Amino acid sequence: EALFTYSSALQGRKVVITAGPTREAIDPVRFLSNHSSGKMGFALAAAAQSAGANVTLIAGPVNLDTPPQVERINVISAQDMYEAAERAADHCDIFISAAAVADFRPVQAAEQKIKKKNGQDDAAIALIKNPDIVAAIAARTELRPFTVGFAAETEQLQAHAQNKLQRKNLDMIIANDVSLPDSGFNSDHNAVLVIDSDGCERLAPALKTNLARQLIDLIASKAL
Ligand code: CTP
Ligand code: CA
Repeated sequence: EALFTYSSALQGRKVVITAGPTREAIDPVRFLSNHSSGKMGFALAAAAQSAGANVTLIAGPVNLDTPPQVERINVISAQDMYEAAERAADHCDIFISAAAVADFRPVQAAEQKIKKKNGQDDAAIALIKNPDIVAAIAARTELRPFTVGFAAETEQLQAHAQNKLQRKNLDMIIANDVSLPDSGFNSDHNAVLVIDSDGCERLAPALKTNLARQLIDLIASKAL
């Protein structure tokens, strides 16, 4: 790493990033969640901070150290993340939604641990949709930041991502194929497609820390 690769592309800018999974309570001891490690979001937070930004990182439950000089807000559920994001996004310049937000939550979290009934062989949990955090930010008519989403797909990467870009009214979407070995969710590496109104660009497989710097430079060049 060269000692003098200092970028000040985001000097004085405010950047909000969501990262990690959310947990949706079933009862006091159980939850629905996913395998997101939070690594990509944390790497983006570190890269944005290095580029001079004031960074707020809204993190679901992950096992990662907070990057230096980054303000971290810990949340558990999608609803918590939504409220924290709406607050933090006011007066920010760039909002990056790297979190793997649970799409649904149990309609009601049981107050006590759910017990099996005698002879019970199956069970079901009724679910209700969570708010779409990045779509809510992108739908703003006032205080709307440059809004970047992620798309984790296992098939038809570009088509699904393009669809999300339009459906959620995003300025940019970063698509990654989570079915590839050693890419995506829990890996230290990632290979992505970056899609915006200018078109589609493929970034070569790289360490998430390295990729994060490329993405932050790209985002800064389009957002400002
Ligand atoms: N996202 C969000 N809030 C949600 C769901 C998703 O902010 N409730 C954001 C993610 O952080 C990501 C983008 O939306 O930036 C796309 O997430 P993804 O799960 O790929 O898309 P969905 O719209 O949830 O579609 P599906 O899971 O059905 O593919
Ligand atoms: Ca989803």
